[in-house]
Amino acid sequence: MKVLLLGSGGREHALAWKIAQSDKCEKLYIAPGNAGTAEVGENVDIKADDFEALKQFCVENAIDMVVVGPEDPLVKGVYDDFRDDERTKNIPVIGPSKAGAVLEGSKDFAKRFMMRHNIPTAKYETFDGTTLEEGLKFLETLKAPYVLKADGLCAGKGVLIVPTLEEAKKELKDMLGGMFGNASARVVIEEFLSGIECSVFVLTDGKNYKILPEAKDYKRIGEHDTGLNTGGMGSVTPVPFADEAWMKKVDDRIIRPTVEGLAQEGIDYKGFIFFGLINVEGEPMVIEYNCRMGDPETESVMLRLKSDIVDLFEGVAAGDLDKREIEFDPRAAVCVMLVSGGYPEAYKKGFVINGLDKVEGSVVFHSGTALKNGNVVTNGGRVIAVSSYGKDKAEALAKSFEEARKIEFEGKYFRRDIGQDL
Ligand code: AMP
Ligand code: GLY
Repeated sequence: MKVLLLGSGGREHALAWKIAQSDKCEKLYIAPGNAGTAEVGENVDIKADDFEALKQFCVENAIDMVVVGPEDPLVKGVYDDFRDDERTKNIPVIGPSKAGAVLEGSKDFAKRFMMRHNIPTAKYETFDGTTLEEGLKFLETLKAPYVLKADGLCAGKGVLIVPTLEEAKKELKDMLGGMFGNASARVVIEEFLSGIECSVFVLTDGKNYKILPEAKDYKRIGEHDTGLNTGGMGSVTPVPFADEAWMKKVDDRIIRPTVEGLAQEGIDYKGFIFFGLINVEGEPMVIEYNCRMGDPETESVMLRLKSDIVDLFEGVAAGDLDKREIEFDPRAAVCVMLVSGGYPEAYKKGFVINGLDKVEGSVVFHSGTALKNGNVVTNGGRVIAVSSYGKDKAEALAKSFEEARKIEFEGKYFRRDIGQDL
């Protein structure tokens, strides 16, 4: 079949790498893709949220399936747009409907959904411009540190964790005053949870689901989780505390109630659900939902998926995911992200990347790259993910670090402590 994948980051290169390995995939297109996805498929110069151009491309090229990488097109309703158009209504889109993507698109909706279905999460309240005074009072009832979340999508920047009450009050006023534009017109304030985080991924056809290998990502720029937040500096799978007993709690208390809750509420959901969890004294709680795979988790998780991902996607589309096999590689897998100097603040783009051909035994996924005059050049903050297997995490990390040294570009930086906290 002919598959069109939407997106252009490291997650999409990892998905493309996996899709291209399927015997069922005769042709893979990526819109818009990057220099890495061009090695496993054909890039198409259409933005992932230009639905009209995407639909036209699908019709002209007899596309059989659309797989959505990032949240943005999902939140904007790409699933519904394809479904409601005579020309594309029979092309399955792997990703939730607009109503399902609200789990990620609105923190307040996600919290209310969890309350309705008794899913463990931090205590919270939501405030807007008309309830600022109540919000300030609510902050006084909480203990430091204070967690403030813009309700809408903010490219990963909408969560503030503030050490003092005074600062929390100021941030609440600023957020409601338009700090993140319309996305912070409503703000969720919640109790701070202390524990180690873990990302759990599920693929669902709306009724049945398969749990993928869990992973942990590393968000801060500096070693030992210091400095500013980034799009992700590395990931590790498996996560030691996510053993069978813990995952059973996750399944019973979180995954099943979520999938059943979506179905009960009549929300059309055929795609990935990303559960951002935290382990609070042995008990899993939900920090957030996302309506897609994680980045940079996908860059390690895809290495451990042995089954044909296109077969699983067919199961999602057909509603018979329970009949499809899913098998995992028992080895550990990790990804170490090479980023541009200065990231996540100002950085320069366009530096030539050398040494990619010297990498052996690891898988290189492009995150922010472009082709320029025959060279692969840096084209983003996060540039290259170096992903490796190992008999354990330590062996996989040693391999990624060794290969990471062979790849060169001006200003290259990576964290050398990925996985050390586990
Ligand atoms: P989110 O965008 O919801 O993933 O939040 C970004 C990060 O903020 C999370 O990955 C956590 O590290 C942190 N965070 C969010 N909510 C809480 C909470 N209630 N308690 C502690 N940390 C949190
Ligand atoms: N790694 C976190 C995310 O993809 O949102």
